[in-house]
Amino acid sequence: TEDAHKSSDDDLQQLLQTLPKEEGWSGSSFYLYQGFWCSARRLKPVISFQRHFPAVDSNVIVASLPKCGTTWLKALTFSTLYRNQFARDENPLLNFTPHQLVHQLEYDVYVNNPCPDLETISIYKPRLFATQVPYASLPISIKDSRCKIVYVCRNPMDTFISLWLFIEKLQNESQELVSLDEAFEKFCHGVCAFGPFFDHGLGYWKASQENPKKILFLKYEDLKEDINSQLKHLAMFLGVPFTEDEEKQGVVEEIAKVCSFENLKELDVNKKGLFIPGIPNESFFRKAKVGDCSNYLTPSMVERLEKLIQQKLDNSGLTF
Ligand code: A3P
Repeated sequence: TEDAHKSSDDDLQQLLQTLPKEEGWSGSSFYLYQGFWCSARRLKPVISFQRHFPAVDSNVIVASLPKCGTTWLKALTFSTLYRNQFARDENPLLNFTPHQLVHQLEYDVYVNNPCPDLETISIYKPRLFATQVPYASLPISIKDSRCKIVYVCRNPMDTFISLWLFIEKLQNESQELVSLDEAFEKFCHGVCAFGPFFDHGLGYWKASQENPKKILFLKYEDLKEDINSQLKHLAMFLGVPFTEDEEKQGVVEEIAKVCSFENLKELDVNKKGLFIPGIPNESFFRKAKVGDCSNYLTPSMVERLEKLIQQKLDNSGLTF
């Protein structure tokens, strides 16, 4: 297997040489692979996931771009899907991070092993995983099977600021962080992890329009506005609608509360430890406000992004 690893590393190096390259936001390069930007380090697990993920009909996949509400959606989907597998006051989210309970395929699952044993990675059934890979580049097994995908999108302005502040906070002295202006420029040109932002959102948006039983498209802002009705919608989509009894007993509100920013942020498990080396769990919980971008973006940046939104989403039916 050492030889196999070596040859796959050689293949990767060869592939990288053929791909367009851009400087990322914090010193490392991004490569344009199948139309999306990806670091060299992330590309290897992405390819393993694409080649080997054996999706089955019962799987559920949570999909998103970084900073669009991944952590929240993992918590909500986990709590809804498995609510009958633990006692009401013993939600595993109290002791594990959302990222430990719903593994990120191209981060932890496929990082060290091209064919991991999924049985041992996720004990709950039906299996639930997360990805940031764009719709067009998902493994064939996901598209060909009847497994379901829940996607969360967020206003690009708030997403950009959340991402910028996340990277700024994680930066260490050996890394060179680009300025906010430079990062903005890159973001507008589509250069961010798994971007372009608009291609990612539109890929899932169109797929959800074509196949609404397979793909549910959610927006961070809608979740913020009315979490209870969004949760009911999610449960229905997943095929586990809340019963009348559950609704009477306040199960929906209870899930919303456990998964809330205010609750998760204060849990010990989310205040300590690392998601992956270099990324503390607490960095996934910042402010969780809609419109926080206005504290950072200049009016001309807002204007430019507004134009871009108009231009990119034109006639798609998707709005922010
Ligand atoms: P802000 O930086 O605007 O605060 P992701 O989980 O995709 O990395 O996204 C992180 C963003 O979601 C951060 O946004 C974070 O504060 C917010 N967030 C994390 N947990 C949340 C929750 N339970 N409810 C609402 N927002 C949450």
